Amino acid sequence: MLDLILEILCLFFNVIQWSLISLSKYILPYSMLPKKDLHKQKVLITGAGSGLGKLLTRKFADRGAVLILWDVNLKSVDELKDEIRGNGGEAHSYEVNLCDPRRIAEVGQQVLRDIGKVDILINNAGVATAKMIMDTTERDIDVSFGVNVKSHFFTVQQFLPPMLEENHGHIVTIASAAGKMGSAGLADYTSSKHAAVGFHDSLVAEVMASGKDGIKTTLVCPYYVHTSMFDATGATTRFPSIFPILDTDYVVQKIFEAIETEQEYLVTPSGLYFVFPGVQILPYKAQKAIGEFFGLIQSLDRFHK
Ligand SMILES: NC(=O)c1ccc[n+]([C@@H]2O[C@H](COP(=O)([O-])OP(=O)(O)OC[C@H]3O[C@@H](n4cnc5c(N)ncnc54)[C@H](O)[C@@H]3O)[C@@H](O)[C@H]2O)c1
Repeated sequence: MLDLILEILCLFFNVIQWSLISLSKYILPYSMLPKKDLHKQKVLITGAGSGLGKLLTRKFADRGAVLILWDVNLKSVDELKDEIRGNGGEAHSYEVNLCDPRRIAEVGQQVLRDIGKVDILINNAGVATAKMIMDTTERDIDVSFGVNVKSHFFTVQQFLPPMLEENHGHIVTIASAAGKMGSAGLADYTSSKHAAVGFHDSLVAEVMASGKDGIKTTLVCPYYVHTSMFDATGATTRFPSIFPILDTDYVVQKIFEAIETEQEYLVTPSGLYFVFPGVQILPYKAQKAIGEFFGLIQSLDRFHK
C-alpha cells in the first residue's frame, strides 16, 4: 500500500514537473530557452526537395549541421546539396521513393555506413490527393499511406537502434492538423495523418519504455501552409485572422525552434492548441458543427462554389 502511495506521489510530481517544463517552452521567448548545439549534427530530412523540407534544410545548414537529404525527386535534392556545399556546408543527397521499404533499407544502410549515425531524423515528406472518398483509387490510398505513415516505420527501423545504443537522438514527425480532425475531400490524407499521429504516440511510448531519456521526439501538426501541396487545391479558410493559411517561413521557423528547444508537440496556429481538446469534450455532431462553422471541415475550394 505504501509503495502505491509513493508511486502516486511520484506521478503527481512528474506531471507537475513535465507540465511546467512544457509550459515554459510555450510562454518563454525563444531567446531565453536552452537550445541544442546543431553544429556537425547529422540531420536526415525526407521530402527535402521542396516546401517545408527545403526551407528546414537551409535553417539546419546555417547552424553547421550535416544534411542528409532524401526525396523521390533527385534533381531537387541534388540542387539543394550543391547550394549548401557552395556555401561551405556539408550535405548529401539520395533518391528515395518512400513507398519502397527496400529502397529505404538500402539507402538507410548506405547512410549509416558512409556518413554514420543520424542524430535527428525528420519524417517530413508527404502527399495529398485532395479527392472525395468515392473518387479515391487504391493507388491513391497506397501512395498516401506509403509516404505519410508507412515510411515512418521503415526510417525509424533504420535509425532508431543506433540512437538507442548511444542514448542520443531526436525523431520528428511532421504530421498535420488533418491528423487531429477529418476534412471533406481529404480522406486519404487525413486518415494517413491520423495514422502518423498514432505512430508517433506509439514511438514515444516505446522510447519511454526503453528508459533512454536521451532520445527526444517532436510531433508537428500545422494547419494549411502556402506550399505546392495545398495551394493547387485552392484551400481556403473562413476566418483568416483565427485560422490563416500559414506563411511557409513562419511555420518553418516554428518547427526549427521546436526541434532546437526539444519541444514535444507543436501546433500552428496556436489557437488550435485550445480547439482540439476543447472541441473533443463535446458530442460528435456538435464537434462537426463547430468545424463547419469555422470552415475547417470543408476547406477545399470546391465546397465554396
Ligand atoms: N502544406 C501544407 O498545407 C501542410 C499542412 C500541414 C502539414 N503538412 C505536411 O508537411 C510536410 C511537408 O509538406 P510540404 O507542404 O512541404 O509539401 P511539398 O509538396 O512542398 O513537399 C513534399 C516533398 O515530399 C516529396 N515526396 C513526395 N512523395 C515522395 C515519395 N514517395 N518519396 C520521397 N519523397 C516524396 C516531394 O518530392 C516533395 O519534395 C508533409 O508531411 C505535409 O503533409 C503540410
